[in-house]
Amino acid sequence: MENSATRRDRAPAESPYVLDNAGKEASARFPALSVLFDAGTIRHFEALGVSPGWRCLEIGGGGGSVASWLAARVGPTGHVLVTDIDPRFLESLHLENAEVRRHDIATDPLPEAAFDLVHARLVLVHVLQRERALAQMIAALKPDGWLIDEEFDSSVFPDPAVGPGEVLSKTHLAMTRVMDDRGVDRNFGRRLFGLMRTLGLVDVAAEGRTIMFSAGSAGPSLLRSNYEQLHDAMIGAGYITEQDFRADLARLDDPEFMLPSPVLWAVRGRRP
Ligand SMILES: C[S@@+](CC[C@H](N)C(=O)[O-])C[C@H]1O[C@@H](n2cnc3c(N)ncnc32)[C@H](O)[C@@H]1O
Repeated sequence: MENSATRRDRAPAESPYVLDNAGKEASARFPALSVLFDAGTIRHFEALGVSPGWRCLEIGGGGGSVASWLAARVGPTGHVLVTDIDPRFLESLHLENAEVRRHDIATDPLPEAAFDLVHARLVLVHVLQRERALAQMIAALKPDGWLIDEEFDSSVFPDPAVGPGEVLSKTHLAMTRVMDDRGVDRNFGRRLFGLMRTLGLVDVAAEGRTIMFSAGSAGPSLLRSNYEQLHDAMIGAGYITEQDFRADLARLDDPEFMLPSPVLWAVRGRRP
């Protein structure tokens, strides 16, 4: 079986970001991500003591829910720089103490030694130059500044032998194949702890959280937006038939539906 190291070494076929914000599905993805994961993200910010006056950098801000929380927390004496390779959803935020910047963390420079907090969530899994990007995010920290990166680890698989009803659909498997083809490292979250230590951060700590995606929750909504956006790629590659795709999409509305989410590792470290 192919491991993540093999996947990382393989050249991507096309543009690296598979879930382009220009896709109509993105407007459903961001509210779902916010409902599912913001509370945990904010808990980590509060534990670090994010407070008025902090200067924060939010990478790949997506729908802007995290940047909005940070802007409210740091107040008029603080500042938030929120970036995205495609900032179309951030541009409508109009936050007085925040700057929105179109920026590719893979290639574009960042201010150095400028931030008390640098945060990203579900961004570096998609970035081919993810280790270089991580090093750049660390260089953007002031001494004593904190980096928190939250990334998925898909190595915990649903297993009907453990939880009857947990089923990995053909569409889900096809989606993971498309992501692998495009260079996504679906287990990057698990590597972050070691990487942050290697890159010189101190007080490195990691906590993983997983959610049972069940009918009526934001989980199926997130899955639906991802499946629909990758429909053409999955069909085009011959990874799934239209019939299976339709059946799997309908299953997301089944009251019995359940799927453990990937583990979202929240890994933090301080620049000495
Ligand atoms: C899965 S979404 C996560 C959005 C947000 N961080 C959240 O957790 O709700 C990934 C985001 O990263 C952005 N992105 C992808 N590749 C990027 C890159 N190379 N540089 C900056 N942003 C990128 C995408 O445009 C998208 O908004």
